[in-house]
Amino acid sequence: MVRIVALTGATGFIGGVLVRRLLESGVRLRALSRSQARCAEGIEWVQGALEDGDALARLVAGADTVIHCAGAVRGNSPEHFNRINIDGSRRLVEAARRSGSCERFLLMSSLAARHPDLSWYAASKLEAERQVKQAAGDIAVTVFRPTAVYGPGDREMRPLFEWLLRGWLFTLGQSNARLTLLHVEDLARAVLQWLMVPVAPSATYELNDCQRDGYDWRGIAAIAAEIRNAPVRQIVIPAPLLKALAQVNLSISYLTRRAPMLTPAKVCELTHPDWSCSNDPIQAALGWEPRILLGRALQEHWF
Ligand SMILES: NC(=O)c1ccc[n+]([C@@H]2O[C@H](COP(=O)([O-])OP(=O)(O)OC[C@H]3O[C@@H](n4cnc5c(N)ncnc54)[C@H](OP(=O)(O)O)[C@@H]3O)[C@@H](O)[C@H]2O)c1
Repeated sequence: MVRIVALTGATGFIGGVLVRRLLESGVRLRALSRSQARCAEGIEWVQGALEDGDALARLVAGADTVIHCAGAVRGNSPEHFNRINIDGSRRLVEAARRSGSCERFLLMSSLAARHPDLSWYAASKLEAERQVKQAAGDIAVTVFRPTAVYGPGDREMRPLFEWLLRGWLFTLGQSNARLTLLHVEDLARAVLQWLMVPVAPSATYELNDCQRDGYDWRGIAAIAAEIRNAPVRQIVIPAPLLKALAQVNLSISYLTRRAPMLTPAKVCELTHPDWSCSNDPIQAALGWEPRILLGRALQEHWF
């Protein structure tokens, strides 16, 4: 029987890759879009937003699987994150439950949910996890908590990597910080493996590339230096300067009404000293293993 998969966030960075990989896997794909209904071979678009209950009902009707990848990743108020990440997620799982057809629900959360005190975003992701599990009824809810995801189509980390390959590494705050990364293609493979297991686990998994303890800035500079065959200079942006820039950016966003990426809350996430995490539980449950380390992605300009 062909699976009917309902997907949110299909127009975003991660969702765009998921669309391609899901279509290749042969599922019947239905996707939510806030923009004009689109046409694309093999995909049924439902026009609407997470705030629109009727659109969500149409999205999940008859679907046995829901992959919830829509979310607010930037914003200038807690209300913005809560409306989309918490209320939107709860509304979607409630629609899935009402449909009577949904057996499994994948919530794309974030490793940030581990530290809800760091930012509005992080707090909203943790609360979304809690409310989705609570409202799911008999639906098996699997939560993915990927660390920072990068790859083609990503606008946030691309400049960092481009400067790195030119020989400049801009680092933020503490020089001993450890960050973890995950290539978007590895994340998409994890989603496909979740789709293929006969019984979806009701569990929460952290995901990173196989660099278990993450990268420190010096290690990232060394990787780039080897690829360039030339040195990489490290420029440390002092934390007070970064915080001041973020504050200015936030103030401007209230005037321009544009959702900013760099905010004081985002600085707290960016300068958090330890984002290391383990793939062991997801490896044991789904047999998933990441394949793409940063060195290979930089070497092949796969970002
Ligand atoms: N990128 C990362 O490093 C990372 C790491 C961990 C977890 N995540 C999580 O992964 C998910 C996707 O992230 P991303 O980087 O792909 O973000 P993105 O590129 O900003 O995409 C966000 C997606 O969500 C949709 N969306 C936002 N608000 C919506 C609403 N009210 N109704 C319907 N759709 C809405 C957007 O639709 P429009 O195209 O209409 O705006 C877009 O398709 C998010 O939940 C994020 O928290 C991302």
